[in-house]
Formats: sequence, C-alpha cells, structure tokens
Amino acid sequence: MILASPYQQSVAEYWNREKDPVNIRLGDVDGTYHHHYGIGAVDPSVLEGPEETREQRVIAEMHRLETAQATFLIDNLGEVPTSGRVLDAGCGRGGTSFMAHERFGCGVDGVTISESQVAFATEQAERRGVAERVRFHLTNMLDTGFETGAYQAVWNNESTMYVNLDDLFAEHSRLLARGGRYVTITGCYNDTYGLPSRAVSEINARYICSVHARGSYLRSMLAHRLVPISVVDLTAATIPYWELRATSSVATGIEDSFLTAYRDGSFQYLLIAADRV
Ligand SMILES: C[S@@+](CC[C@H](N)C(=O)[O-])C[C@H]1O[C@@H](n2cnc3c(N)ncnc32)[C@H](O)[C@@H]1O
Repeated sequence: MILASPYQQSVAEYWNREKDPVNIRLGDVDGTYHHHYGIGAVDPSVLEGPEETREQRVIAEMHRLETAQATFLIDNLGEVPTSGRVLDAGCGRGGTSFMAHERFGCGVDGVTISESQVAFATEQAERRGVAERVRFHLTNMLDTGFETGAYQAVWNNESTMYVNLDDLFAEHSRLLARGGRYVTITGCYNDTYGLPSRAVSEINARYICSVHARGSYLRSMLAHRLVPISVVDLTAATIPYWELRATSSVATGIEDSFLTAYRDGSFQYLLIAADRV
C-alpha cells in the first residue's frame, strides 16, 4: 500500500489522468518531459518571424526554459561520482532524472505515486538504453523502503507541496549519505506577506496541493540534519516564462494566479540546497 491517505489517492489520480498539452507538447520537442516551470530570459525572436510557425517556436522556447530550470537544479547537486546513486523524489515523467544521469553517469531512482508516470518514464528509459541505470518506482517518497545512507544526492523538483515537510525530510535524511546533498526547487508562500494570499490559494486548489511557507522549509531541514548551503530566489527569473505561457496556445488558465502571486510578493520561486550532516 504505497498511498498512505485519501489525499494521496486523489493526488495519484490527478497525475494518472494528466495529459495536459503544456506538458506533452513541450516534452515532444526533444523527448524530455518536464512537469515544472521555466527560468531565464525569453528570446524575443520567437515572437517574430512567420505567423504559421510562431506557435511551435513559443512551445520550443517554453521547453528550453523548463530545461534550464532542471539544469540549474542539477548544477546545485555538487559532484556525483559515476558509481553514486541519486534519488528524484516525485519524478513525474522522469525529465530531471534523465538529465542527471546524462550529467553524472550515476544510478538514478525516480519515485512517483502515479502508475502511468512510472510506465511512461520506464518506457523512456528503455528507449534511451539506460533502463539498468535509471529506474522508476511506484513508491511513496515519504516511506520509500530504500537503503539507509545509500544516496549521494536527493532532490524534489516541484513536488514538496504535496507532502508534510517533516515527514519528507526525515525520510530524505535517512536516505542520504553523510555529506550528501539535498536540493529542492519549489514555490512557497512568503512569510512576510502573512498567510497564503488569494492567488496562492487558487494555485493550491488547481493542483490539489498545499504550498508551504518559506520559513517552514528552513526550519524543517535544520530539524532533520539538512543544513542549508544556499537559497536562491528565482521569482524574477520565472516571471518571463509565465508571461510567455499566458499568451501561448497551451495556457491552462492558472497563469494569472501565478503572475499575480509573484508580483504582489505573496509567493516566491526558490531553490534551496542543503548538506546532510
Ligand atoms: C509537479 S510534478 C513534478 C514532477 C517532476 N519532479 C518534474 O520536475 O517534472 C509532482 C510530482 O510529485 C509526485 N508526488 C506527489 N506526492 C508524492 C508522494 N507522496 N510520493 C511520491 N511522489 C509524489 C507526483 O506523482 C508528480 O510526479
């Protein structure tokens, strides 16, 4: 029984059904499928040029910014030896897992509570000829059953807002070797704003998630032997992606909530990296 609650059942059902063009069409650009947002400046030339091919240029540009986000996460994992193992907690269709394997040549375990995501990512691993080294598991990241201390790095790419942070970091701390690295990229609400704003609450309702406060991340990490080494505010870097997405053919209707929340200061897009001590 990998689903520990009716809530987790509803999250699993959401991801099992999910076939959103904003994920599938972008992944089709080069066969790497992300379920996260982009960072970096938009190349304005994608909006110029022939009208007939403009949509495809915008899709490719959004995909480039989402890949840049995963590249930045991987940059913060430190050096991982080829013989090492890393864990992609809440791996989606496996995009960041494959990129980490390409970077380090290490073993990768990706876990998700969605059966259809495990099937999709496993098929990708076979097609890429890396199925021995990049494995996907139908497993709850709060209770993996994986070997204690076996991982040089663990990350959550936009998947912490589905779980209780103390439960999550207790399990990550158990799995990481001493000196190992933990990285998350996540949206969080800004403690100085107060409690979640209306726009943040709209995001929670749309994705059946519960965005945590910035301070909760740092408090919970420290309580679980994960000592932050860097906190990078990516809020300004993600706004161009959302502006482009809002005008694109694959907009889902949540774009205004993200833009409002980032602009009114109630929501922040952060990378947090920590060492397991
Ligand atoms: C927004 S997607 C991010 C996917 C991926 N990290 C990426 O960047 O493309 C959230 C992911 O978290 C997973 N997830 C949510 N709760 C989980 C849990 N308790 N255990 C494992 N995975 C979980 C979902 O199944 C989904 O794959």
